[in-house]
Amino acid sequence: MDNIVWHTSAITREDRHHLNGHKSGVLWFTGLSGSGKSTLANAVDARLYELGVRSYVLDGDNIRHGLNKGLGFGIEDRIENIRRIGEVAKLFADSGQIVSTAFISPFREDREQARRLFRKGEFIEIFVDCPLTICEKRDPKGLYKKARRGEIRDFTGIDSPYEAPSNPELIIETYRHSIHKAAELVIAYLREKKFIP
Ligand code: PPS
Repeated sequence: MDNIVWHTSAITREDRHHLNGHKSGVLWFTGLSGSGKSTLANAVDARLYELGVRSYVLDGDNIRHGLNKGLGFGIEDRIENIRRIGEVAKLFADSGQIVSTAFISPFREDREQARRLFRKGEFIEIFVDCPLTICEKRDPKGLYKKARRGEIRDFTGIDSPYEAPSNPELIIETYRHSIHKAAELVIAYLREKKFIP
């Protein structure tokens, strides 16, 4: 870009890891609406807080009220939504935190593009796996019902596609596990990979 020069921070990511006593990265939760992304991301966040880990959740519904206000659910807007989230997540990782993102992020290529922003091992893709029939039965916001009635267009799983991850770091089947168990599986992964002590 013309006339814009990259500034290198005097404090490195490693300095921040040392200060915090843990590594940083992104827990990228992806799955259908109603699969449990936000619930799981928040349960993991609460557990990390208890463990003294600096963490934060970026949640689809919330971010669409602010940073990504005005973006809709057509393909172009979803791509832009996820592009921005990838960049914001990278800033959080640079700042030394473990950031959880809870977005449907339905397209494989967009998730791969986000992955490419991170160092090796720092992007942890978590497939929040729950069959459409169960998500639709849960329908916590009544959106599936509206989508079936044709009151919402481009609804993921109904008339807009969801591309499941082909090689995620973790698959959490939320229809089989309690929320507590699901969160512990994520924490165990972070311990195994030495993100947290
Ligand atoms: S995306 O695909 O990643 O850009 O979507 P995201 O930013 O995660 O937003 C998903 C939440 O928006 C609500 N909602 C819809 N979802 C899917 N398709 C359509 N058309 C739609 N319209 C509104 C819905 O509450 C999603 O929340 P979650 O938490 O996923 O259920």
